[in-house]
Amino acid sequence: MFIHFAKLTSGCFLLSSLVQATVSPGALETISAAVDANSVAAFWSPLAEAGGYTWLAYNRNPMSGNDNGHHNVMVVRRGIDNGVISRDCLKASDGQCATFLDDAGHNTPSLAVDGDGYVHVFAAMHNEAWHYYRSSQPYSPSQMTSHSSEMPDSSLLITYPVIKSDSSGNLWLIIRGDNGNGVARGGYLYKYTLSSKTWARIARFAYDADTAVYPDDITFDASGNLHIIFEWSKNPASAIRHQGSYLRYSPTTNTWSVANGDTVSVPVTRSTPQLVFQPLTAGEQYDTIGVNDTAAPAFQSAKLALYESSGIVRMQAAYRYKAAVGGVWQVRRAYATFGDTAGWTREILFSDTDTSAAIDITHDGTSVRVYYCKIQDSVYVREKVGNAAWTETALAAGKGVQRLSVSMRADGTDVTYLVAPKNVNSTTGSLYLQLVGGR
Ligand SMILES: *[C@@H]1O[C@H](CO)[C@@H](O)[C@H](O)[C@H]1NC(C)=O
Ligand SMILES: *[C@@H]1O[C@H](CO)[C@@H](O)[C@H](O)[C@H]1NC(C)=O
Repeated sequence: MFIHFAKLTSGCFLLSSLVQATVSPGALETISAAVDANSVAAFWSPLAEAGGYTWLAYNRNPMSGNDNGHHNVMVVRRGIDNGVISRDCLKASDGQCATFLDDAGHNTPSLAVDGDGYVHVFAAMHNEAWHYYRSSQPYSPSQMTSHSSEMPDSSLLITYPVIKSDSSGNLWLIIRGDNGNGVARGGYLYKYTLSSKTWARIARFAYDADTAVYPDDITFDASGNLHIIFEWSKNPASAIRHQGSYLRYSPTTNTWSVANGDTVSVPVTRSTPQLVFQPLTAGEQYDTIGVNDTAAPAFQSAKLALYESSGIVRMQAAYRYKAAVGGVWQVRRAYATFGDTAGWTREILFSDTDTSAAIDITHDGTSVRVYYCKIQDSVYVREKVGNAAWTETALAAGKGVQRLSVSMRADGTDVTYLVAPKNVNSTTGSLYLQLVGGR
């Protein structure tokens, strides 16, 4: 009996380990071949789907003049069914395209569409006042004008907006905020309430002396809780970060929790118990910008996916980690079940060659997909179906994609936003859209 059962079990394992990769990339569609080479970031949320459209935001070299130190911010609306594209720029008060300073990794747009169809864009903020634009008509990329004066915390200096719409059409925004005290830069959460069309600060959720918070991602579970990840650097800023961290915010109870379910008060600090999903490793230390931007061990850029079954929420973070000075930026995954005292499990998914800053992850309950870019190469997706082994598939081969953003549709299809910053020439690159099916 036992032998028979063991045979059956190993037979099942063999079967599942033979499951082939189901990743099936669709056509690579060029959204623009006039993208500013500085239209690159890792924190951003430049992609959304709403109202039957895919929405993409990117920076374009200005149409007039030859100043490559500046850009316009473009908003693209693409019909999901017919592929028809309509696009326009964020507008200055004179009705012309607003122009912003180039600043790779910082001055890039994040976008969301609210439940009434209005398009919201945060753009070009590197420790400066709000640059917030909103459409004057639902589902229209035109007449995107500044509504910065409607934002709370008008004296705060803002960087790294990540914005998402919840299932009710309210918007949630995380940023790094600098209040000028020279002590620390915190992580802040804001909500746009659809019924009142107003923004309000919900919390300064993370703040710790001598650190700066780097927001990474927001995802929502079926109960409407926000799951937020972020990282820390030495104050005021650094290219190397540490201690990837996770929090859950429950709007219905206005409470914050860590992964094991414990309620915590905010702002959290690095010593809040159970906050960190990637702890410091041997020799890892907080270093000052410009002094040691290539130091290691170090953490940089992360995105989060959730999947749920029988009311249990599982969190999956994909992130980049450099284990040794001179080493590569590895692709890692950490995963946990909300409310489980076991905490986070970590694994290294890819460490053969160096990767560029952006990363993303999706999960449909059966398969997990992690997207990353290899330096001087292009984009790859690594998929694991059930208990099968990871398989890697190249996307946009030969196109020089070095940044990305991915969002999963309800049917498990991934919508990918792929940027090749310099594949036209030294100042100009391309933005591609590609569906990745097979789930
Ligand atoms: C720079 O980083 C290296 C390796 O992590 C470390 O040994 C060194 O102390 C750091 N230097 C400074 C000035 O922080
Ligand atoms: C790069 O290509 C763009 C678009 O064709 C063009 O406007 C620009 O002048 C080119 N720049 C250089 C440096 O070749």
